[in-house]
Amino acid sequence: MANPNAGRRLLPLLSTPHKGGRSALTCQFRCGNACAHDVANTTDNAYFGDVVKQALSRRGVLRAGALGAIVVGTGVAGAVPALADEPEADAARHGGSGDSDIRFTAVQPNKDDKLTIPDGYQSSVVVRWGDPVLPGAPEFDFDNQSADAQNKQFGYNCDYVTVFPMGRDRALMWVNHEYTDESLMFRGYTGGAAATEEQIKIGLAAHGGSVVEIERAGRTGEWKLVTKGRRRYNRRITAQTKMRFTGPAAGSDLLKTAADPRGTTPVGMLNNCSGGTTPWGTVLTTEENFNQYFVNADKVPEAQKPYITRYSITTGTPSSSRRFDRVEERFDLAKHPNEANRFGWIVEIDPFDPDSTPIKRTALGRFAHEAATTTLARDGRLVVYMGDDGRFEYIYKFVSKDRYIPGFDRHNRGLLDEGTLYVAKFTGDSPAAELDGTGKLPSDGQFDGSGEWLPLVSGDKSFVDGMTAQEVLVYTRSAADKVKGGATKMDRPEDMERNPVTGGVYVALTNNTNRTAAQVDEANPRPSNKHGHVLEIVERRNDAGEKTFAWSLPLVCGDPNDASTYFAGFDKTKVSPISCPDNVTFDKDGNLWISTDGNALGTNDGLFVMPVRGKERGYVRQFLTVPVGAETCGPLVTDDQRSVFVAVQHPGETDGASPEAPSSRWPDGEGSQPRPSVAVVWHARGKKVGA
Ligand code: FEO
Ligand code: CA
Ligand code: CA
Repeated sequence: MANPNAGRRLLPLLSTPHKGGRSALTCQFRCGNACAHDVANTTDNAYFGDVVKQALSRRGVLRAGALGAIVVGTGVAGAVPALADEPEADAARHGGSGDSDIRFTAVQPNKDDKLTIPDGYQSSVVVRWGDPVLPGAPEFDFDNQSADAQNKQFGYNCDYVTVFPMGRDRALMWVNHEYTDESLMFRGYTGGAAATEEQIKIGLAAHGGSVVEIERAGRTGEWKLVTKGRRRYNRRITAQTKMRFTGPAAGSDLLKTAADPRGTTPVGMLNNCSGGTTPWGTVLTTEENFNQYFVNADKVPEAQKPYITRYSITTGTPSSSRRFDRVEERFDLAKHPNEANRFGWIVEIDPFDPDSTPIKRTALGRFAHEAATTTLARDGRLVVYMGDDGRFEYIYKFVSKDRYIPGFDRHNRGLLDEGTLYVAKFTGDSPAAELDGTGKLPSDGQFDGSGEWLPLVSGDKSFVDGMTAQEVLVYTRSAADKVKGGATKMDRPEDMERNPVTGGVYVALTNNTNRTAAQVDEANPRPSNKHGHVLEIVERRNDAGEKTFAWSLPLVCGDPNDASTYFAGFDKTKVSPISCPDNVTFDKDGNLWISTDGNALGTNDGLFVMPVRGKERGYVRQFLTVPVGAETCGPLVTDDQRSVFVAVQHPGETDGASPEAPSSRWPDGEGSQPRPSVAVVWHARGKKVGA
């Protein structure tokens, strides 16, 4: 079907568009030391090894049928999935032709302070922290930073990346700026009361996101920042940008503050980690560890305290040294206890309208959002997959009430305001006694089973006893704890993506060192899970609108010599070691690209490719490594498969590092400070990436 939006907003060049071995700085600045805190989910919801088996067996859920049809992936506008009727889960896993096209020679694990790419490839930096974005922005000057400059320059710690083509050789790139690391941004930074007001304001301005125009270099896979001429779409969104709430919780008493007595106009977005795009060409960006930006959480009203705790908002001493409350009183929860409720949402931003107001879509719930991957159900309803990145947190999906209508923007945007929010329950099909915590496969040869999506709320109707619909949306974690049927506590659900070829949905579960042997279940089968795993969901009839699914673990990460690892049965002598899967994306051929955050094997983080079908299912190969201290974010393979974009987040963020003693000089080299940057990788002779 022709793209109804052609000319105005073409969809991602790109099919689609997110966190072990982490440094103490990363822990402090990114998550507010979440790992050092008590686990926020203290409910006794099933770890599900002990859950009664579902009546529906996997075979019952997914009956035989052909495979290989194309589903609508994120950003493929206008088409309803032309899927085979009842594809077989095993076919989704093993169907397709024998070998994949992936042929590059894997990069070896290393600790080098550079972007290491395969032989035959080239890379360049597209945009760096501090590069001018808006008119009048000064060139970056590490020793002369100002809030005014930062408001017009590319922000810090780039994460989710997506690209919207404007013709063949020009595009808009959206990039999240997840968090700031002031101890690497400013010389002599000690934080708290000692931070200068200007430093605090720079921090506020360095959060959020950027829209920048980029252009292809010649006829290669290289893309460059447009630095000359009119760039009408370039935009900075920060922690101070005016936004609005829509959906069922907009105007709720829980969202009202002194500055916004109607509860409809929040200010700013924080800790935007991963994201997605909509079929109508907007960005969905996800607020993750928003818990760390507030002070005096112990002074909120008594009735609110359980919810503050459930979101790991630290009581007493602020976990972050940023002290935003010193320049904006709203961050003081003693004075403005509802302000924390105004973060933790999915925000929709129209990159093609620089004057548009970003929208926090309350129907999608509030948690440490990771992923906002959209697809269409068979009947045309919009589906959004979402992870909640915390130890023992849940996996969610939203299904709109109405159907997507190609080209009818005004109608389509309303889809995100009305629908049903579900949480996932996973049931294993092997006896609990066979899950011995060593990672040894159960006797049926797989960690697998069936699952269901449990409804939490639909419009004004709550499915959770004792909670109103608005409470379910604002305190979604508590709702998921309480919902009948028992949602499953997972090992840090991060990014999710739907395979554009098979329709399978993949979830990166980064790690969870807090899980005990008594808490293992078939979907989270290792105690003290340092290296994480990847979960595959095949929904009934391969229909994203369905409420039941089959699932399996194609990848249990770590050193392949470690007996607890599993690479879908592929020969482990041939695969690359992989640890802490975080962001995932697919290329058009349906190969899964996995980036890592916090590689607990002691080498740098990287980007990996894994076919998920055919004989090479489980054949993990490392495509690149990022510099010292960095994690790999926002991987994106363009639809023409000529370019791979990666966000190199927090280079040099290692214990003891500082501007006086940087541990990385990437990307500018000798004498420079490390700068979070987006890089692009392409084959020197124009071959398909990875092939
Ligand atoms: Fe920002 Fe869950 O990674
Ligand atoms: Ca991450
Ligand atoms: Ca099993």
